[in-house]
Formats: sequence, structure tokens, C-alpha cells
Amino acid sequence: MYFIANWKMFGDLRTLNTLDKVIKFSKTNKKNKFQIIYCPPNTLIRPMSRRFKKTNIEVGAQNCHDSYDYGAFTGQVNSRMLKNVGAKYVILGHSENRQIGETDNLINLKIKSAIKSGLKIIFCIGETLKERRAKKTNQILKSQIEKGLKSIKNISNIIIAYEPVWSIGTGEILKEVALTETILFIKSRFKKKNPKILYGGSVNTNNIDKLKKIPNIYGFLIGGASQNPKKFIDIIQKSII
Ligand code: 13P
Repeated sequence: MYFIANWKMFGDLRTLNTLDKVIKFSKTNKKNKFQIIYCPPNTLIRPMSRRFKKTNIEVGAQNCHDSYDYGAFTGQVNSRMLKNVGAKYVILGHSENRQIGETDNLINLKIKSAIKSGLKIIFCIGETLKERRAKKTNQILKSQIEKGLKSIKNISNIIIAYEPVWSIGTGEILKEVALTETILFIKSRFKKKNPKILYGGSVNTNNIDKLKKIPNIYGFLIGGASQNPKKFIDIIQKSII
């Protein structure tokens, strides 16, 4: 199972001291089959990967530019540069970026560039509340998958993260039946390719007991709760027992 910490715009060099608890936890649970991945802001990728040396915790980024080559793109960082400082993964298509104008086509270009750089991709999809209420969830997810992964045949390095937009940071989660159905729908879109599907959106120490029972979920993408090592460890512990 994957436990991915999306720190969003959080953390400085001092915050890294809080990781000692998680490192200790991962070392004492080496035999358990789970993978912890931290996706901090770009400023912390290098120092974090240094801290995680000699552990099996991996580091990822939260976004990248679509250009594989350097260019005149002020403020941007490409997938090769992220790989160079220690990232093994990159989150792409997060709704917080879709909301500020990232299109399916741009996400597709970013994914291709990240594959070329040798990064693994955490590809986020999810519907808004309005779309769910209008019973358009499946249609939206289908379109996000088709456009985001257009002309990408080998998806072995792509993890799908289903994150209902309205569930992010709100404490609201789908009822079990609805979540089961939606995950199954996503799985069906890939036929035999069978990608790993994660759930994200208000995962916390209280709802994890329910969430872990949903079939076909291969792990969790965790925002707020992952900033607190105690809560993050608690979520992992509850999921793996
Ligand atoms: P929260 O866990 O804070 O709802 O964030 C989820 C998320 O956006 C992870 O990518």
C-alpha cells in the first residue's frame, strides 16, 4: 500500500525535524509491505531526500513544467530538475492546479515529460460537488483519464489518485457504497492494465477505518493530516492492521 504525504505549501528546514518519528516508525516496520512517499514543496526535496537516505521512504514533487528542456519559463521547474535533486515521483493533475487553469491537455504533456525523465507519476482525477450532484461523476472521470493519458500506452509508472474536489480539506467523504462504485468505475476504464488506485480527500485518523475497507484502494494521498507525523503514522498503522 502507498501512503503519500502531500505537504502542499507547507514546511521549512525546521519542519524536517518532525520526520524523525516517521523514519523511526518505518524502520521498525520494515517487514510490512507499505511505501511512504513524501511530496514536500520543491524547496525541501533535496534536504528531505538526504534525511531519508538509508530508509525506504521516498520523495516526490507536487507539480512540474511540461517542457523536458530548459527554457525561459520564470518560476518553473521541469521534471528532470526534480529528479536531479532526489524526487522519484511527481503529483500531476491535482485539483488545486486544475482550478487555476491547468487543462487536461497540459497535464498530458506534463505526464509525458515526467515519464521521459524517469519519474513515477501520481495522476489525480476527481469531480466537483456540482458535477457529482448532476450525476456527471463518471463522465468527468472518464474524460480526465482519456485526455490526461492520451497516447500513453505504458502506464506501469502511473498511479491513479481519485480525489473528489469537494472532499479535499473539508472533512467530507463519500459514503462507502458511492466510493466503492466510483473506484470500480475508474478501474473499469483501464481494463486489463489494472493500475494502482489511491484515494485522497480528508483522509484522517477517524475515517481511515472505514476507508481501508473499500475494495480496490491501494493506498491514500493525504494532505492536512500528513503534516502531523503522529496522525500520519496513526493512519498508516490503522490501515495495515
Ligand atoms: P486533505 O487530506 O487535506 O483533504 O488533502 C487531500 C489532498 O489534496 C491530497 O492531495
